[in-house]
Amino acid sequence: MSIQKVMVIGAGQMGSGIAQVCAQAGYDVTLNDLKGEFVERGLSSIEKNLARAVEKGRMSADEKDQATGRLSSSTDLHDAKGVDLVIEAAVENMDIKKTIFAQLDEIAPEHTILATNTSSLPITEIAAATNRPQQVIGMHFMNPVPVMKLVEIIRGLATTDEVYAAIEDMTNKLHKTPVEVEDFPGFVANRILMPMINEAVYTLYEGVASKEDIDSVMKLGMNHPMGPLTLADFIGLDTCLYIMETLHEGFGDDKYRPCPLLRKYVKAGWLGRKTGRGFYEY
Ligand code: CAA
Repeated sequence: MSIQKVMVIGAGQMGSGIAQVCAQAGYDVTLNDLKGEFVERGLSSIEKNLARAVEKGRMSADEKDQATGRLSSSTDLHDAKGVDLVIEAAVENMDIKKTIFAQLDEIAPEHTILATNTSSLPITEIAAATNRPQQVIGMHFMNPVPVMKLVEIIRGLATTDEVYAAIEDMTNKLHKTPVEVEDFPGFVANRILMPMINEAVYTLYEGVASKEDIDSVMKLGMNHPMGPLTLADFIGLDTCLYIMETLHEGFGDDKYRPCPLLRKYVKAGWLGRKTGRGFYEY
């Protein structure tokens, strides 16, 4: 199974980061989103990141031009006609993902692997929207994609060893470390990270310490690069709440109950960095 042409669906922070690392590693990448302006925004953030890499001496101007030359834009899913791999990084909504995967199944060539960057939704259920569940797999990158080394690779119930091996090989070529994970709610990363963030929100909610002090404890005491409340703002409080709800529903255990303060912030539209206000103001 040889992968050369890749389509990334969703040109937001995750999708554009995935497109960037694929183009840097030599893959031809089509970046797709619903509107041309979304794709343009994604491409310009890639341009900025690559320019910074040149400035910092991590890449030559020539290499930057080559990577940029491998990127093309699309607002039509039919552009999946000529690709070997699709990586979907659209919104975290099961109905939307199923619709996208059903369409891709119609459009993409038989050999094409369909991967999703979902952070917690069941791969097996997404795969069931297609007639090729054996070629559907989870490829969960971390934010910010160009910096973080991990990719969780999640097998659906029907994913073949051949497909797993192709995605593992590609992950290595992206200079990332693949970790094999079974299809359970939150996989590994978010099953462990999100309850920690939720507990930090409970700690704030119960008045145990200020937000700054909670973050200081985890930064200075555990050597985390960001405190949990800063990290929640970075990820997006709506995303954190959504993943906690997925864990709560998936395991049915009260220990995953989202903190009421997290719900309140999301209801207020205080979603973190992206809206200029979350636990902190930006
Ligand atoms: N895109 C590209 N590069 C970026 C970047 C971005 N969005 N943000 C930071 N960087 C680069 C910077 O350019 C900088 O590179 P140089 O060394 O060349 O200058 C480098 O990363 C370090 O950045 P900074 O000096 O600005 O800041 P920092 O040292 O605090 O690092 C950080 C920033 C890498 C984000 C670090 O704070 C960190 O690792 N935080 C934790 C991130 C984390 O936990 N991510 C996982 C989130 S969970 C997830 O993604 C899963 C999910 O499903 C929700």
